[in-house]
Amino acid sequence: MSPDAASAPRGEPAESPGTVPRTGPIPGGGETSAAAVRRMFGAVAPRYDLLNHLLSLNIDRRWRKRAIDRLLETGNPVGQYLDACTGTLDLAVELAGRGGFRGQVLALDFSLPMLERGRRKIRGMPVAITCGDALTLPAADATFDGATVGFGMRNLASLEAGLVELARVLRAGAPLIILEFSTPVRQPLRALYLFYFRMLLPRIGRAISRHDEAYAYLPASVLAFPAPDVLATLLGRCGFEHIAWEPLTGGIAAIHRAQRAAAPGQSTTTSS
Ligand SMILES: C[S@@+](CC[C@H](N)C(=O)[O-])C[C@H]1O[C@@H](n2cnc3c(N)ncnc32)[C@H](O)[C@@H]1O
Repeated sequence: MSPDAASAPRGEPAESPGTVPRTGPIPGGGETSAAAVRRMFGAVAPRYDLLNHLLSLNIDRRWRKRAIDRLLETGNPVGQYLDACTGTLDLAVELAGRGGFRGQVLALDFSLPMLERGRRKIRGMPVAITCGDALTLPAADATFDGATVGFGMRNLASLEAGLVELARVLRAGAPLIILEFSTPVRQPLRALYLFYFRMLLPRIGRAISRHDEAYAYLPASVLAFPAPDVLATLLGRCGFEHIAWEPLTGGIAAIHRAQRAAAPGQSTTTSS
């Protein structure tokens, strides 16, 4: 795959039999959740980066750096890496731009407009872009030496199917880093956060993105996402071990770490 060539989407993801369907909010009623999510990100793509940095007061940059620090702690930065739900490629270029990184990053998303916004950030880095579905990854089993997903898991039509698919394409022992929003548990931060998230963020997001639903969907999808301990249990069921998580900025976000187990189903939760 050429770094400059974004291939065509592979179609709507199928709901895999035996997986837990997505129970969170679906933007734009009447469509499948995947189609609605893809349409929504396509619509907000031109303002996505601006809104990300503005609404998080730029803290998202620090979170992404920390996520890549955690990924690189686990081993030598060589080989093939996947950044699934890459959006405008911020995590992919954070990894590929690190001094000493000698691997290749495949940046995958099913929204072509998001990928097109991100393409300009590559600037000669070893990043290949592909337009595809995180639930049916275009890669053979055990292809990748590590994977990241930044703010993408909560958008999947099936969280469990997404984790199983990530486990499929990772080599045994390969690290998975999930950076995702979370809901603080401690007061008064929790009350402040919920007020900001429910009342202010949707209004600011709507005004700047000029999209009616996207920034109402954001808090709704975050509140519907499993708590870190629940996600850890799910990771264990989906073929990962050495599972840990760390809260960021008082629990507004969290980095989840795991390693692809050699034998799916044998898992260990190491810390919280
Ligand atoms: C909130 S954005 C996150 C983008 C980027 N990772 C970041 O850190 O800013 C979520 C992205 O997930 C993508 N996405 C959601 N479901 C997907 C799926 N099934 N397959 C591929 N991409 C998906 C969306 O198109 C969107 O670009």
